Amino acid sequence: MVNSLSPSLRRIVVLGTGGTIAGRAADGGDNIGYTAGQVEVADLLGGIGAPEGLELSAEQVAQLDSKDMEFDVWLQLARRCAFWLAEADVAGVVITHGTDTIEETAFFLQTVLAPGKPVVLTCAMRPASSLSPDGPQNVRDAIAVAATPAAQGVTVVCAGAIHSALDVQKVHTYRPDAFASGDAGPVGYVEEGSVRRLRDWPQSPVGKSRKFFETKDGAAAHWPRVEIVTSHAGVSGAVVDLLLQERTAVGAEPIRGLVLAATGNGTVHHALEAAALRAQDAGVAVLRATRCASGRILPRPDDRLRDAGALTPVKARIALMLELFETPA
Ligand code: SIN
Repeated sequence: MVNSLSPSLRRIVVLGTGGTIAGRAADGGDNIGYTAGQVEVADLLGGIGAPEGLELSAEQVAQLDSKDMEFDVWLQLARRCAFWLAEADVAGVVITHGTDTIEETAFFLQTVLAPGKPVVLTCAMRPASSLSPDGPQNVRDAIAVAATPAAQGVTVVCAGAIHSALDVQKVHTYRPDAFASGDAGPVGYVEEGSVRRLRDWPQSPVGKSRKFFETKDGAAAHWPRVEIVTSHAGVSGAVVDLLLQERTAVGAEPIRGLVLAATGNGTVHHALEAAALRAQDAGVAVLRATRCASGRILPRPDDRLRDAGALTPVKARIALMLELFETPA
């Protein structure tokens, strides 16, 4: 596999962002009482040799618990990926990341980069200090994917499975095999350093990327504010109405988009739907995304609120944010 890579593609760049994979606990038997984002990415590569004919280089982009992910880290990460992928000798990029928001970062990167080379995010459910950490094997597998000829797009590699950025979701709180790709299933598996691919590498429409990178200042304050509100039994429209009222408050970042985490096939409680329609009439972009773990919203002719297809609420939020990023307020 590695042997048939073009000889000019010699390098895999590993970008570190923190997470449990870089976490440490006081006791090796403790897999939950640790602090994420402690170990430098270069040290994570310590015991992991480069595949034959390739060299690894490491760069620390951030060092955080991914629950605290921020837009400026995403922007920095996207820029570092774009930089390295443009280098003629780089075969692909691996990113070490926390599991909690890895699916959001992966979706964001796929949408803004749509890379023709592989960008492979990986993670761990047990800290680096664990008696049996899962991180080292995940990093090895991610490197194998990044070194696969003709691989492309953004994937997440965990517990031997390769998931597309578009489909991947964290589905377990604790077990090492914590990710799934819903109806789509994984892109493939990594088996002792070899990739067994089952379907196409991720692809998504290009076009958002150029506009995104042309923006001089991607500071968090300038990113369109998009909130998620969940439809559930007994919900009212109060949160949406408060968000609308805030639009006129001095100093508040006005809401520009609203994602409704909808029930089933995109249905919304009547009280929340009425408030969402008021928001839409007031100029807020509204999108319905299903709360269901699998499946997509099948649109109906009488829908008054747009739907996000198969996107989860958190991914729909990113899609809407990027859409609004290109549309001046
Ligand atoms: C994080 O997301 O940074 C912490 C949790 C994890 O990586 O499993």
